[in-house]
Amino acid sequence: MQGLPTRRGDAMTTAFILNGPNLNLLGGREPEIYGTATLDEIRQASTSRGNENGLKVDFRQSNHEGELIDWVQEAREKAAGIIINPGAYTHTSIALHDALKSLEQPKIELHLSNIHAREEFRRHSYLSPAVSAVICGLGAVGYIVALDALKRLIDNSPLP
Ligand code: DQA
Repeated sequence: MQGLPTRRGDAMTTAFILNGPNLNLLGGREPEIYGTATLDEIRQASTSRGNENGLKVDFRQSNHEGELIDWVQEAREKAAGIIINPGAYTHTSIALHDALKSLEQPKIELHLSNIHAREEFRRHSYLSPAVSAVICGLGAVGYIVALDALKRLIDNSPLP
């Protein structure tokens, strides 16, 4: 039987930022929708903001649903909170929903674009019912906003 996950040391100050399919193409992929920042530029900006907030950022991207699920499970023991941009798995993945449900830490679903202002099939998220909060439509700035919010959720300090 599996016991409750225990988080020690680094895990108390580590934020996982998980990115799903096709986000490795940012910069060149539909820039009118997703902006011109590359994923590496977003990683660098996120790492800096995390450090300013006292958080170590573990920033990852995968095109594979199972790998994203493995990482959400890994966060149970290794992260104080997670931010996930699940890409198109947002609209299809009950398995990611279930993985996120099993995570007790603060968890933020993030999208660069405003998914509610786009095609009908993007308006439904399987993940939103399983997370603490959803941020969308802010482009790359959303990662920074999400990190600031995650820090507050982790510290349980709602106001400045
Ligand atoms: C996205 C929105 C999804 O609908 C899409 O499939 C993506 C990116 C976003 O960041 O806006 O790949 O998650």
